[in-house]
Amino acid sequence: MIVIKSEEDLACMRRSGQIAAEVRDTVAARLSPGVTTGELDDYAAELIKERDATSAFLGYKGYPRTLCTSVDSEVVHGIPGKRRVELGSIVSIDVGILFEGFVGDTATTVMVGTSDERVVKLLDATQSALAAGIEQAVSGNRLGDISNAIEKVARRAGFSIVKEFVGHGIGRTMHEDPQVPNYGPAGKGPRLKAGMTLALEPMINLGAPEVEIMDDGWTVRTRDRMPSAHFEHTVAIHNGQAEILTQWTKEG
Ligand code: MF3
Ligand code: CO
Ligand code: CO
Repeated sequence: MIVIKSEEDLACMRRSGQIAAEVRDTVAARLSPGVTTGELDDYAAELIKERDATSAFLGYKGYPRTLCTSVDSEVVHGIPGKRRVELGSIVSIDVGILFEGFVGDTATTVMVGTSDERVVKLLDATQSALAAGIEQAVSGNRLGDISNAIEKVARRAGFSIVKEFVGHGIGRTMHEDPQVPNYGPAGKGPRLKAGMTLALEPMINLGAPEVEIMDDGWTVRTRDRMPSAHFEHTVAIHNGQAEILTQWTKEG
């Protein structure tokens, strides 16, 4: 069942989205060689607390930390810890916060210093795929139009799409109906309408699409150990249009 949000609900979701975006970009700005993912997580916990919000991840199905930090071949759900970020790495920072009863969920992938040209293209294509998906999140379209737009951008750039993990409805809980695959035919699936709120999150691989879960039970990484990128926005369909609730800030 897809939960339709009222104007009051959307006002709350704007605030939780804004907080999630601020934390995402403030933490991302901290990325530099030598910092550990655990330090980034502690920083995020502080920022979230300062804003009277709570992490939507901490304790979710037993998840142990505030953020997900996924480095290089890690796709999503990397657990922050002692790992040091290196020059040339790419790091996905995924932030989920709960504020006034609503969740905001957003991610960016940041390059630490410079990396090779293919990796630069991978980040660019994943962000463009997200933008193309968001453009389709308008009243009257179907869910498949979002999925298909994301898939097209990723494939045209020559990259592969992770199929095992998907975007999702979002609201009072982090994961609501519907699931939003990052691939599939246009013109299919539920019709989109005002008050729907979706977290769109392409996960795009430089090499092959296959992924595996590491022994920690959470971290998803590519089987071929090639890099993977992940960008995510929480989006509302409002006045027929796509409204991004987790807009990039100046730092972002
Ligand atoms: N933020 C992830 C998503 O985009 C979910 C993370 S769940 C956690 O859907 F438990 F790993 F944090
Ligand atoms: Co997320
Ligand atoms: Co999400």
